[in-house]
Amino acid sequence: MGSLNNVETTNKPINPLDPEEFRKQAHLVVDFIADYYSNIEQYPVCSQVKPGFLTETMLKLAPLEPEPIETIMQDVQNHIIPGLTHWESPGFFAFFPCTASIGNFLGEMLITGFNAIPFNWLASPAATELEMVVLEWVLNLLQLPKSFWFSSDGGGVLLGSTCEALVCTLVAAREKKLSKVAAEEGVLEKMVIYCSDQTHFSLKKACGVVGISPQNVRAIVTTKSMNYELSSLALLNAIETDLRSGLIPLYVCLTVGTTQTTAVDPLGTLCEIANRFDMWVHVDAAYAGSACICPEFRHFLDGVEEATSFSFNPHKWFLTTLDCCCLWVKDRTVYTKALSSDPEYLKNKPSESKQVVDYKDWQISLTRRFKAMKLWMVLRMHGASGLREFIRKQVKMAQHFEKLLSRDKRFELVVPRNFATLCFRLLLANQSSCDGDINMLNKQLLESLNATGRVYMTHAVVEGVYVIRVSIGAVLAQDKHVSMLWDLLQEHAEVLLAKYVTPQVISTLV
Ligand SMILES: Cc1ncc(COP(=O)(O)O)c(C=O)c1O
Repeated sequence: MGSLNNVETTNKPINPLDPEEFRKQAHLVVDFIADYYSNIEQYPVCSQVKPGFLTETMLKLAPLEPEPIETIMQDVQNHIIPGLTHWESPGFFAFFPCTASIGNFLGEMLITGFNAIPFNWLASPAATELEMVVLEWVLNLLQLPKSFWFSSDGGGVLLGSTCEALVCTLVAAREKKLSKVAAEEGVLEKMVIYCSDQTHFSLKKACGVVGISPQNVRAIVTTKSMNYELSSLALLNAIETDLRSGLIPLYVCLTVGTTQTTAVDPLGTLCEIANRFDMWVHVDAAYAGSACICPEFRHFLDGVEEATSFSFNPHKWFLTTLDCCCLWVKDRTVYTKALSSDPEYLKNKPSESKQVVDYKDWQISLTRRFKAMKLWMVLRMHGASGLREFIRKQVKMAQHFEKLLSRDKRFELVVPRNFATLCFRLLLANQSSCDGDINMLNKQLLESLNATGRVYMTHAVVEGVYVIRVSIGAVLAQDKHVSMLWDLLQEHAEVLLAKYVTPQVISTLV
């Protein structure tokens, strides 16, 4: 085992950043990744390893001596790849996509290459200003109102996740309200947050982080008859009920493209209600925001001009990998007042001049990555036209799959499709079969499809109905992969339906 004596046996001078070694070894890794993409279809989409597969086989201690890159890459091939779920596989239809691209990849290399940490302007002026440039580009592509921009009272920032955007905007909303209401004890306990029962679970988590009790989060029930959109009447009723109880409506989170069914809350009417009560309105378009750069999808954002803040994740469907969330706010003074700090060791002339943006005041942590570089590379290398073409191609494939499903009476499309995600289920011909039986059937269908290793899909449960979700978005997916999915689905549905002649049989098999 390691000892200081062993360490001293290494007599080569170490230079972990030797430029020529870097050139050689990085080429090898780039070749490895290119081969990985070429061969990605040979791997099961969802990893099939058992728990402990790596922790029980890998060496328990870190290597004492340096190892050659070739040996390490051999281990990546033999031990790491089998334990990966391949998010870039064209058979990946689970959750929402996380889309890589050449522009993103090269941008990531530059980010790590420069290793700049732009917590304030001076810490890397180009990184801060590129972030402002790229956020204004995206703001224009989405046709967000100028009130969200620095030339007005607003501004934008690149965060790591939507969850972070929710925490930051909740803190700003809380501080703004605290500065207005009487400073009596227990004010925080009176603040109430509104959302729908389809809102991403991270809102509840974010509320906990900022000190708002889960009892004060009103997740308003949605229904199939309203396509799982938040009802303005229900929101109004909930707010008025809370006001009558002496509570303080603080914040409402609206979603464009909910996680389960991609429902779109009607922004205009909901913002109008929230604004009547001086609430903060955040619009979360984590997935669907990307599609809204196409004019034919922009209408889903109608009404956003009345919101207080807006966020979407390029790391989902915008040819950009994790982590990357764009957040814009209308009032940067209110927003940064809640998040800024001014320690002595960070003081510098540009910051004191108030002529620059210090992004440390726009987020939770001090340090941050130069994320703008990858978004800038994506937009320059693929262009707005390339991004639109990419989105449209995926939507076209989803439309095709939707057509195949709707022509086959054995299947039910549970909600109308808005983007490139579909929710469907297999039905039982037997009229007396209940939702419970059909839920079990679909759970088994999904499990058997995923077990093939050729595709990976996930599920949702809406109003007690188990649905299979297909989110088409993998960059490498083509028409033939959608056809393969359809053939596989039919084959497995036939086998299951043949087994499950009566609902009673289902319960004995599950
Ligand atoms: C609508 C919506 N909001 C928020 C999130 C969470 O995003 P993040 O992981 O960036 O916090 C998701 C994730 O899928 C989502 O679909």
